Amino acid sequence: MSDPAAPIAAAAGKLGVLLVGLGAVSTTFIAGVAAVRRRLGQPVGSLTQLGVLPGRRYGEARPIRECVSLAGLDDLVFGAWDIFPDNAYEAARTAGVLEPFLLEVLRGELEAVRPWRAVFDRNHVKRLDGPNLKSGGNKRDLAEQVRHDIRRFLGDSGAERVVVLWCASTEVFMQAGPVHQSLAAFERGLDASDPAISPSMIYAYAALMEGVPFANASPNLTLELPALLELACAHRVPIAGKDLKTGQTLLKTIIASGLAARLLGIKGWFSSNLLGNRDGVVLADPGSYKTKEDSKKVVLERLLKPDVYPQLYGDLYHKVQIQYYPPRGDNKESWDSIDLFGWLGYTMQLKINFLCRDSILAAPIVLDLALFLDLAARAGKSGIQEWLAFYFKAPLHAAGVEPEHDLSIQLHQLQDALRELRAVPAAPHDLHD
Ligand SMILES: NC(=O)c1ccc[n+]([C@@H]2O[C@H](COP(=O)([O-])OP(=O)(O)OC[C@H]3O[C@@H](n4cnc5c(N)ncnc54)[C@H](O)[C@@H]3O)[C@@H](O)[C@H]2O)c1
Repeated sequence: MSDPAAPIAAAAGKLGVLLVGLGAVSTTFIAGVAAVRRRLGQPVGSLTQLGVLPGRRYGEARPIRECVSLAGLDDLVFGAWDIFPDNAYEAARTAGVLEPFLLEVLRGELEAVRPWRAVFDRNHVKRLDGPNLKSGGNKRDLAEQVRHDIRRFLGDSGAERVVVLWCASTEVFMQAGPVHQSLAAFERGLDASDPAISPSMIYAYAALMEGVPFANASPNLTLELPALLELACAHRVPIAGKDLKTGQTLLKTIIASGLAARLLGIKGWFSSNLLGNRDGVVLADPGSYKTKEDSKKVVLERLLKPDVYPQLYGDLYHKVQIQYYPPRGDNKESWDSIDLFGWLGYTMQLKINFLCRDSILAAPIVLDLALFLDLAARAGKSGIQEWLAFYFKAPLHAAGVEPEHDLSIQLHQLQDALRELRAVPAAPHDLHD
């Protein structure tokens, strides 16, 4: 909620982008920003950098950056937490996404990003362990330490504002329980170190307590808790999630919405993935795998609306497989085998083999989310930012609201939100064509 009459503060000064997890996605994002600043590459895939806001029926399309006040790339400063002490240069080398020669050029800037000790619990990520950990009397204490990190960063970096993004590993599958039902129950759970409070929830709680926007790039439950929604609204903080829509799921939503627009039936959709990065190691654990599988599967059913079109999608068999295969590293390979049917039920097949680069697709989304969440905060928006659904596989949504999964509709929704967030009020015909 925000007051439409209130002026939106300009994005003056530095913006701190604090990343939980300094792995493939985070380092590709930080190094990418550094490379673009030095004109060593283009910010391909980023709406905030390359996108335009169409003027609808009247007026010309104008760059988004000219329509709303966004932090500039030169104003971004970075911080991170990780269970490994490697700085961003070392972590980027380990991730193996960007070429070593580019990392050498950026080495000084990347080495300056050294991760703070992490809140970690092997019960929530079973395939990883690392030495760079916080210790504390209970989970409340750990949350206080994260809050302290945020405040210290603000003081040391000179940043005016910060946003926090969870770009750390996928936690084991969880559902909201009694400790998540209210802020009071959650805080009692922090005091008692309730095992149902995962590390990602502790970071989110800490950020929201500091009035800092939080986005969840992973499929973790994290923000989908009455307790944290209550906190986000009480502290008037914008939040967004969950699970970045990249790679296979991005293509799936593009293709499925096209087939559905033409009312072509779909009987089966078999999706298989090979990935060999650290994310793949984590997903080889059945608990983390289920978290990811659920978020990848929810898309098709919601997009195709089998309740509205039972004759076209009522019998859809949707299967998702993710296999850890080290030789492929971050360069994921996905196959989709789609069994569809047309006029009179005649069958057809469609095969898609996408040789993608996961973190190359994710980095521009992290950038856009950081800048848009900061804009939302300056505009006084709080709670779930449904207009950012464009970026997520399983968009957060208010109770009783069906989230939109169609990419083109999501883009229109995002553009509409940006028209409302324009620093300079638009002419009425521009807002409502
Ligand atoms: N790459 C993509 O396209 C993509 C798309 C959608 C979602 N995601 C999600 O984004 C997240 C990051 O992906 P990635 O490829 O960068 O993975 P990664 O394994 O390379 O990086 C994750 C980092 O998080 C750290 N970590 C784990 N638990 C932590 C904790 N409690 N606190 C601090 N650090 C912690 C790990 O040590 C690791 O360095 C994963 O959850 C993944 O599922 C990625």
